[in-house]
This record gives sequence, structure tokens and C-alpha cells, in this order.
Amino acid sequence: MCGIMGYVGPQEAGPILVDGLRRLEYRGYDSAGIAVTNGAISVRKAQGKIANLEALIASDPPSGSIGIGHTRWATHGAPTDANAHPHTDPSGEFVVVHNGIIENFQSLKAELTSGGSEFVSETDSEILAHLIAREYDGDLVEAVRRTVALSEGAYAMVVMSRREPRKIVAVRKISPLVVGLGDGETFLASDIPAVLHHTRDFLIIEDDELVVVTEEGAVIESISGEAVEREVVHIDWDAEQAEKGGFDTFMLKEIHEQPAVITETLASRLDQNGKVWLEDVGFDDAYAAAIDRVWITACGTAFHAGLIGQEIFRRVLRLPANVEYAHELRYADPIIGANDLTIAISQSGETADTLAAARLAVDSGSRMLSITNVVGSTLSRYADDILYTRAGPEISVASTKAYMAMLIAQYLLALRLGAARGTVDAELAGRVAHGLHLLPAAIEEVLEREAPVIAAAESIVDASDVYFIGRGLDYAIAMEGSLKLKELSYLHSEAMPAGELKHGTLALITDGVPVVVLLTQRAVYDKVISAVQEVKARGGRIIAVAYDSDTEIADHADMVLRIPDMEDLLAPVAAVVPLQLLAYHVARLRGHDIDQPRNLAKSVTVE
Ligand code: F6R
Repeated sequence: MCGIMGYVGPQEAGPILVDGLRRLEYRGYDSAGIAVTNGAISVRKAQGKIANLEALIASDPPSGSIGIGHTRWATHGAPTDANAHPHTDPSGEFVVVHNGIIENFQSLKAELTSGGSEFVSETDSEILAHLIAREYDGDLVEAVRRTVALSEGAYAMVVMSRREPRKIVAVRKISPLVVGLGDGETFLASDIPAVLHHTRDFLIIEDDELVVVTEEGAVIESISGEAVEREVVHIDWDAEQAEKGGFDTFMLKEIHEQPAVITETLASRLDQNGKVWLEDVGFDDAYAAAIDRVWITACGTAFHAGLIGQEIFRRVLRLPANVEYAHELRYADPIIGANDLTIAISQSGETADTLAAARLAVDSGSRMLSITNVVGSTLSRYADDILYTRAGPEISVASTKAYMAMLIAQYLLALRLGAARGTVDAELAGRVAHGLHLLPAAIEEVLEREAPVIAAAESIVDASDVYFIGRGLDYAIAMEGSLKLKELSYLHSEAMPAGELKHGTLALITDGVPVVVLLTQRAVYDKVISAVQEVKARGGRIIAVAYDSDTEIADHADMVLRIPDMEDLLAPVAAVVPLQLLAYHVARLRGHDIDQPRNLAKSVTVE
């Protein structure tokens, strides 16, 4: 999704903007550009990777100590130089970068065209520069305000003008925006990691706010003009955390961070007896005991995390629970009651569909708890209760450590709800707590067992289809393993409950077709083995994920990826790791861009 950068201060803005845009690459983009002002506004922009923009800047460097920058992920118009941001008005005096969508852009464009405006791009964003120029009568802030009043949609917009050259004016209507406060310099960005190496002090801009950024700092107002007091948030993330460390990709680094993420997410929240404290979860035991149903809503990998939550809430807490894709739930006219708890899960906290589903739940009278990784994200601000996942910034587009933290967060929540509802007794709570505390060491062990995963990756690298099967919690992991494989390796893959195979998909199992089978749920072990035998009988090749103590599987499987023995309830946390590594290694063997798979964006802030 698009990224935004801005800078006002004593230094040359160009290199700072480009550096910030590089740090936002993980959001996904297909063109990039900057505008710098030094009396006149200079714009440099290019389709493709930031290297193209850098080449342009190197051949014709713009000069100025104030500027704005953008990485674009195309929504209106193809990824071309002309459609790349920034966009100027015809006089070149006003320049704009923009994230999100102007919903009434066709009618605005028609109106401007009938007034004689000519456009050089196909974007909805260019009309904003035209409108601001038209509305300007000596006050940039007022021109921006009037433009916002005319433009419908969810977006963030950043504006600069040579008429008022020492300021940047920005507006947030849903799309994220933060201000980084430096010493005699101020930064603007769509995301904290972009400027974390310059400052740790941030102002989080909220929906329907306007901010005027100068080198002295930032002044925030509501769109309608009321002054806003905003506390400075100090971000503790280690700058190192946002870099690759010793790994060749962010994804591999993030996979290896998972033991630490589990420790962080559990820290100060769980004792040895299974008693849980969740700092931003405000409901009491009486509320927890009276919940009729839990709705879990999310997209993609976060949805797969929700599948685990659904199973735990149902099976262990005996609490009715449904996990629903947010994009389906929002249009499903669901019967959400006032005694229902809705859990919205989103790493970014900015996924448009998840936000909409969460809003729907709130409007239906449900209490809403968000599980998110981003402090101050939109989802966290919609929520009655927040369970932060503490995974740190996740740069790789394919989610791994944030997913794992979502699982841990749901175990904590289950212990909290189970204690209040009397469905988790002291013995079970103690056992689960013990198991959770042992998980980081278990995951370290799994990470050390990379050689068999590489062998498995080599065995499927040229496959045209790969199937993943499992039952119960293992089915949820099969779904996630399959998604990781397809998004990184571009191999076709499908996951299904092991029992479903014989109802149709078995027709596709022929000689050598790989089937990844998860076998961590002892209660249904024999049932899954039946499915394995069905596959073997058709010549399929079995790659199993099984416990160390499972001696039987060697008789059935072509390859076995082992995990240490543990509570079946917690096994998904360990069993997903070989599947993450499998996807990683297949993609590596196929020579793909692992951190930025094609066609995907880190944060999907459009519907
Ligand atoms: C896949 C992946 C996506 C996200 C999905 C939701 O690896 O990362 O499927 O899980 O786009 O994103 P969030 O969690 O930010 O709402």
C-alpha cells in the first residue's frame, strides 16, 4: 500500500525522503517520487523500484530542505511515471501526495475539466492539487480544509506550496499518518519505522485531523478547526529491529524472532499458575461470564490465526465462537448480539475490511476487542479492549511473527475468559501456562531443524500443485502453511480438512503429487492416517509434520518434519514454523523476491 514521507528541517530533504521511502518498501509499491522545494518546487518520480527514482535524482538532484515523498500502489491508473506521486497543479505551485481513494473523483474531475483544467495523469490524486490551487486565497490550511470538504473517501493527503514554503500541511481521513519530532527538524510518515532512526518521539494523527508541520514541530487541529492536544508517544522499538540483522531477508529474520516474540507477548501477562493480566482489556469477570458468543473477524493470515482462536474457544471454553472473513462479515448482515464479544485481529490495525467489520460489530452493540501489533493503529482506537501482540515491526509482506503473536494473544485471552467462566480449571490453566512458557525453547529447536525442511523444499520446488491437510487445530495450520507457500513460491496450493479429501480433491492426487500432512492432534491421529493412506494409494507423496515421539509416521510418510512433543492445544504454534520455512525455502530456490512477493501489499487499506 502507498507510503508517505515528509521532511522540514535544516538538511537536504531529498536523501532523507528517499531513505524513508526505502524503509516503507515493505508496504508494497509500484512507483515512487519526491518533491522538494527551494523557492521553486522540483518533482522527481519514476515507475518501478526506488532505484529508478534514485537514478533520476542522481542525474538531476533537486535541492531544498523541505519535501514530501511517496511510494504508490496503483488503484486509479497504471503504474507509470505520470501516475506516480507527487502531483502538482498546472502552475507547479502546489504539490500533493496522497494515500487511499477519492470516491467522488469522477465528478470532481468532470467539474474541474469543465472549468478548463487539464490533467497529466489518470489518478484521483492529481485532482487534489488542482482543487487546492483553486481554493487557495492566501491561506494553505484553509485551502486544504475546503478541498477535504469537497473530497469523499478514506485517505491521507500531504500538501506543500511554494507560496508558504516552510510548512507541510497534512490531513488524515482513515489512512495512517504519524509525525516524528526531531531536534530542529520534523518528519512525517505513513508508518513509524520510516523515521525511527531519526527520532523516537511521535505524534499519531487521528482520523479527521489536520496537521501543520514545520521545523519547530507540529500543530494538530480537527478538520473543522478546533485545536487538538496530543500526547507525544515514545516508541521503544530498537532501530535494529527494523533492519534485517544478519539474515538475508526480513522474512527469515522475522521467523527467527518468533521465540522472542512469544516471550514478549507473554511478558508480565501470565504467571506459572495460568493467571492472566491483560493491561488494556477492561472487562470484568461478570462481563466475561455473560458472553453469549465470540465473533472473530480478520483477513488472510490473521484469519488463520482466528481459526485457532475459534477452535480453542469452542473446544476448551465451550463458548460458541465463529471466525468470519472480515470482507464477508461486513456484508453478511450477521446477527451480532449485545452480549457477544467481537475480536478483530489485524497485524497492521489498518486493514480496511477488518476495520469495517469491527465497526459493524460495534454498531451492533457488541463489545469489541482488537488484537493488533500496531500501537495507535485505527483498529486499536475503535476498540473497547486492546490486546497488543508486541511482535515489533513486521517488514516482510508475508506475515510470520505477527501471526505467531496473534496465536499467543488468543491463548492468553482464552485463559482469561476460561477462568472467569469457570471452564478452565486450575489444573488445565497451570498446564497451558507451563506449555506457553516452554514454547520459545521449543521453537528454537524447530528452527535448528532446517536441513529436513530444505530437503522437503527441494522435493516440491517443481511441483505444480501442493496440498495441505490436517484436522481441528492442524487444519488451521494447514490453511496458513498453504497460504505462505502460494504467496511466496507462486505454486498452486490448497488446504482442506483431512476428512474432506475423499469428497472430491482426491481426484487430483496422482503419482508424485505432494501432500503436506499435519499430525499433532492425537485424538484424531488415526483418522488423519486414513487420509494419508488414501493419498499413498494414489501415488501421492507425503511430507508429514509430526511430534518427535511419533514413530508410526515413518512407515507412511516420504519425509517427516519433526517438532518437540507438547500439549496438542499448543502444537499449532510449533507446527507452523516448518511450514513457514518450507515456503521460504521453496521461494528462495525459485529465485523470488521473498520480502515483497508479487501483487501483494503489507497493509491493505482499500476495500
Ligand atoms: C499474508 C498476510 C496477509 C495479512 C492480511 C491481513 O502473509 O500477511 O494475508 O494477514 O492482509 O493483514 P492485517 O493482519 O494487517 O490485517
